[in-house]
Amino acid sequence: MYKLIDGKKLAQEIRAEVKQKVAEYSRNSGREIGLAVVLVGEDPASKVYVRNKIKACEEVGIKSFAYYLDKDTAQARVEELIRSLSVDNKIDGILVQLPLPPHLDEKKILEIIPDKKDVDGFSASNTGKLSKNEPCLVACTPNGIMKMFESENISLTGKNAVVIGRSNIVGKPMAMLLTNANATVTLCHSKTANLKEVCARADVLVAAIGKPKFVTADMVKEGAVVIDVGMDRDENGKLCGDVDFENVKEKCSYITPVPGGVGPMTIAMLMYNTYLSAARS
Ligand code: GUN
Repeated sequence: MYKLIDGKKLAQEIRAEVKQKVAEYSRNSGREIGLAVVLVGEDPASKVYVRNKIKACEEVGIKSFAYYLDKDTAQARVEELIRSLSVDNKIDGILVQLPLPPHLDEKKILEIIPDKKDVDGFSASNTGKLSKNEPCLVACTPNGIMKMFESENISLTGKNAVVIGRSNIVGKPMAMLLTNANATVTLCHSKTANLKEVCARADVLVAAIGKPKFVTADMVKEGAVVIDVGMDRDENGKLCGDVDFENVKEKCSYITPVPGGVGPMTIAMLMYNTYLSAARS
């Protein structure tokens, strides 16, 4: 019998904890914590994510500053905005929602964000520190997944962990966090040979591919912990994950649902990182 990991409930608990910390910080410092959220363009999924991030700020007592820029905004204009937010002492965290429209140089834009305000944990400094297991701001989605393991007392020491997807946002930092937690990690991607066999050996399987129902039952070991990072649409346009949930679930010890799994954790960890950015400066 599998157990669902309820990300919605856990995220709510984390937001409640962050709310208390934010209130205490504001009482002691006499200032509000501020998060700047920058969205360029009209990507419907990004609009939903940004709306939810702003809603979460309201809930935990963080002041949000939303910047909605036209899809054709010039590189120089975006850079100018990020530079001004970087030196604005009302702003503790800067989040640029990805993906950016193709004409923009994402790397150049993200590099302007100072390490201390990098609440996504994407900077070279933060990712470098993560790889050395030093304190840093950690990317929200993989950090939220680590909280899920913690909340269920899932030990990672000595476990075979397989991550599918090598993105800078999820796959790579996830592999680092699992390594730091003493798992033996395999980071798979589109060029991996014998992917099914590799996955079928996983005690812990994290799917972050972006393809609906990609992970099928034959790829999952009996008793595995399966974490689904996907936010996809199935053949009928219904929201689903990277895991073929209905056919995989019975093989798992733990599995995360979509929706209500990893998604809410990302936002809760963003709130936590924004608090940390303020508290550490
Ligand atoms: N797009 C998808 N996930 C994320 C995320 O965690 N942060 C940002 N900035 N953009 C995203």
